[in-house]
Amino acid sequence: MGQFPLTLGRFIAQKQEIPPGAAGELSSLLTQIGLVGKLIAQDLRRAGLIDILGTTGEINVQGEAVKKLDEIANKTFLKVFHHSEQVCALASEEMEKPVLLPENWPQAQYMLLIDPLDGSSNTDCNMPLGTIFSVVKSERKARMPTEDDLARKGTEQVAAGYLLYGSSTMLVYTVGQGVHGFTLEPNIGEYLLSHAQIRIPVRGKIYGANEGNYHKWPGGTKKYFDYLKDKDAATGRPYSGRYSGCLVADVHRILLSGGIYLYPGELDKPEGKLRLLYEANPLAWVVEQAGGKASTGTMRILDVEAKQIHQRVPLIIGSANDVCDAEEFIQGRR
Ligand code: AHG
Ligand code: MN
Ligand code: MN
Repeated sequence: MGQFPLTLGRFIAQKQEIPPGAAGELSSLLTQIGLVGKLIAQDLRRAGLIDILGTTGEINVQGEAVKKLDEIANKTFLKVFHHSEQVCALASEEMEKPVLLPENWPQAQYMLLIDPLDGSSNTDCNMPLGTIFSVVKSERKARMPTEDDLARKGTEQVAAGYLLYGSSTMLVYTVGQGVHGFTLEPNIGEYLLSHAQIRIPVRGKIYGANEGNYHKWPGGTKKYFDYLKDKDAATGRPYSGRYSGCLVADVHRILLSGGIYLYPGELDKPEGKLRLLYEANPLAWVVEQAGGKASTGTMRILDVEAKQIHQRVPLIIGSANDVCDAEEFIQGRR
């Protein structure tokens, strides 16, 4: 008789990947993120029926119109983690300042950085959405962390991953020992191991980018896109273009089948669009842990100095050889 797939909880308990001393809190933190995912997925499934599509009329700290579902997803995180014993601070794309939770400190040492709903332009047309999370640990035992303590380099993450709300809901995470993917079985409300030890192919045949921005890019970036579309059987070109407008969905496809996602720097906006701490860093760590690469075009994402919670960074991520090619073009070496 075949074996029943491992649940998220049993997998974490059995694999013992989590560093000793952190096992309890970090596994319940991941379980709580799974719970948030179930709650958000439930709202998304009924979104067209219960008047939660469209915008709230507010503009967030990024200067973007807030969708009702952005706000709902953010509140879901706050409700689940407010009285948790795992998290003492929470920063989000949807909040200018992090929420500090001194009532959970000192027993809770972890700090959570989130993009509660990624790809929110997809909400109104029933397209994929995601949630991205990054976990760092407070170093200071002697005092409650402050806002500045949340801005940390990607190499300091202790757990990171995403939820993908696609044709099924998935939780994909790393704690630095590879990448594992779980699919939510809706009938029993459990995440089951569906993608153990994901490895990204060293080269792919897909590129994902908003090419409507072509005229805004520097010459090297334009040249790379022209190269991807040139015909050359030896290097598998032209590549196929695939872009959903949801970073999580686009990176997930590339994680499984190889290729490259780019949100590059622009002539008038060299810092790009995506946010370092809760978009680029967690996805960069996941992709690196699967054997891929993540770069700004000139340096490794995980080595970028974090200065502010909402800082932006160009993101070029995917199969190692594809990211190397892109770097060579962007740096003018090809
Ligand atoms: P968010 O919905 O969290 O603001 O993120 C949107 C991001 C990302 O998901 C996607 O890759 C990109 O922005 C899409 O931007 P464009 O509409 O400029 O292509
Ligand atoms: Mn996003
Ligand atoms: Mn978002």
